[in-house]
Amino acid sequence: MQGMSTPAPSLLAQLEHLDATQLRRLLVDQLTRQKIGLYWEHDAIERDRALNEHVVLPRVVPALCHRDASGAASGAGAPFTNLIIEGDNFDSLRLLRATHSGKIRVIYIDPPYNTGNKDWVYNDHYVGANDRWRHSMWLEFLYQRLTLARDLLAPDGVILVSINDENRSRLELLMDEVFPGRRVGSFVWRCRTGGNDTRGAFFSDNHEHVLVYANPAFRFSGDEKSYSMYKFQEGDRIFRLSDLTKAHDLHERPNTYYPIHDPATDTYYPCNPQRVWAYASESRVKDGQKIRGETIEALISKKLVWFPPVQRIEIFESRAQLLEAIARRDVPMSGATPLLFDNMPDLEFWVGKRIGYGRPSFKRFKEGLKNENQPISSWLTPRQEQDTLLDGVNQPVVGTTEEGSKELKAVMIEKAFPYPKPPSLIKALLAQSCGDDDIVLDFFAGSGTTGQAVLELNAEDGGNRRFILCSSTEATEKESQRNVCRDVCAERMRRVMQGYGDVAGLGGSFAYLQVDKLEPPDVAFDASSEHARALLAMRLTHSALPPSDAGMQLIARDAANGIDTVLVNEVNDVTLDALLHWPSPRLAVYSNRPDSVRELLQARGRTVNSYSLVDALLRGQARQRAAFAHDGTRGDAVPGGAQ
Ligand SMILES: C[S@@+](CC[C@H](N)C(=O)[O-])C[C@H]1O[C@@H](n2cnc3c(N)ncnc32)[C@H](O)[C@@H]1O
Repeated sequence: MQGMSTPAPSLLAQLEHLDATQLRRLLVDQLTRQKIGLYWEHDAIERDRALNEHVVLPRVVPALCHRDASGAASGAGAPFTNLIIEGDNFDSLRLLRATHSGKIRVIYIDPPYNTGNKDWVYNDHYVGANDRWRHSMWLEFLYQRLTLARDLLAPDGVILVSINDENRSRLELLMDEVFPGRRVGSFVWRCRTGGNDTRGAFFSDNHEHVLVYANPAFRFSGDEKSYSMYKFQEGDRIFRLSDLTKAHDLHERPNTYYPIHDPATDTYYPCNPQRVWAYASESRVKDGQKIRGETIEALISKKLVWFPPVQRIEIFESRAQLLEAIARRDVPMSGATPLLFDNMPDLEFWVGKRIGYGRPSFKRFKEGLKNENQPISSWLTPRQEQDTLLDGVNQPVVGTTEEGSKELKAVMIEKAFPYPKPPSLIKALLAQSCGDDDIVLDFFAGSGTTGQAVLELNAEDGGNRRFILCSSTEATEKESQRNVCRDVCAERMRRVMQGYGDVAGLGGSFAYLQVDKLEPPDVAFDASSEHARALLAMRLTHSALPPSDAGMQLIARDAANGIDTVLVNEVNDVTLDALLHWPSPRLAVYSNRPDSVRELLQARGRTVNSYSLVDALLRGQARQRAAFAHDGTRGDAVPGGAQ
């Protein structure tokens, strides 16, 4: 990379203008400046050209948005609840600062790790091991984005950051700098099953870390809001249902492929050949074999297994009858997978048995949840070690990078992205750290794994979490047409929502947004009504609205308080008349002529709150000193635009 091995020319130019006294003062300042923490050569490196002071405005790209064909939110004008924002995340984060400040409950990021293997781009160049300032460039790059992200977190918000072992200490010190006093701890994630050789003779490196920093009101899974999934009652105890299976197939784990028997109703439940039971069965234990953990029989006798109280039960009197039902696929199913099939082991067993068409689940009681469910720090248990789980300890079972690649390939058919995270990892983190209605942000979204994790978690527990994914195009001078955000991230979300292969869709919608940048004085002239509509909707409803060419548009409805918020593109007799007769008791109006609107309506007997559209577009876009310079006042907002 050119210009990386000597101080940036602008720095030399600055020094040339200092006189001897100023130079001495600067030297004393440098020599006496002491601090505990991280130092990086931010003045020496080439400026990050992505940093800018433009006003950032969102633009919905209708052709790339997705809407579920069914469901309540399927109308053409209905808001898109999830957002995908294309482009450099410096711009996306500045946009979100203007629309989602203090609203994000969980940020999960998996930034480029700066491995030296040219895994990230700075000013259009891949940064490699021989770049002299590579660590400083990486720290400065992340610092600029983390300081913006900090403002987005809710008072009970948390940021979770994946990082490899090599860069963990640097990133942790950077996080301390950006989030002073907010460190919660870190988790260890086993990212591969075998070892790897990249660290030479010393280590076989197979783990990564997830650093956790949170605002004071954050609690892991202790949030009352997340209890809405505890929908079942037994006496005075409530419980939720959780999966009894694990991600191994019948051939990998033949011992945990067995029928579960409910002794109370004498009903048998067949096992899913693609996801066997997570617990051993006494019926499969060989002489002298020791079982680690609970058996399914022990769980059933402790009444910890839930059997569907209302369900279809069938008894096939003969093998022929059973085979007929199999041929019709009229047998118990798990999603699209038939659980009885003609070449299954022990087909004869099922003849004459009461067969349950529902699925048994594990009962998780809420009782004592707060204390018992605090995660422990070695909390992310690899699937292949789940038999070692400690009783009563919160240890979600998650997959490896290999599983991440497999899952992405299943959705996208071909290898679309290197080393995506497994959705199970992010799902486990989210299940512990956000409530049902929270907003989850990933501003290094890559292939969109976080979006898939949000959708899957909602499908499992009935939540309404929403995602915001910021993904770059990854276009460079050499590959100017590349667009990972559009072709991988958004395409993946579309397939997960509408279904792919024989996997049913999880439903949902997303808006695909691009960011336009304007000089502040140009906003009054060049910002379009589409920018205004998209920005106001994001700020007021945290959703996006499809474009509309109506002269007057409803942006948000606060039914509880009887307030409608309306955007007026042109103030004229027609729009004034419509405002005069607008049915909601209270009205907030955004337009380019706020004083005229207020006065003209007042004169006709209607009082409204009238706001300047330009001020609204500039709000929250004040430049932030921390995002541009290091002058000892990091993080202080500098008044620059209308707030
Ligand atoms: C390690 S990957 C994240 C992978 C992701 N967790 C997944 O499972 O697919 C980091 C991603 O950040 C993207 N990225 C790097 N710099 C970026 C920037 N300035 N703005 C937005 N994305 C960026 C990279 O292109 C890459 O896709």
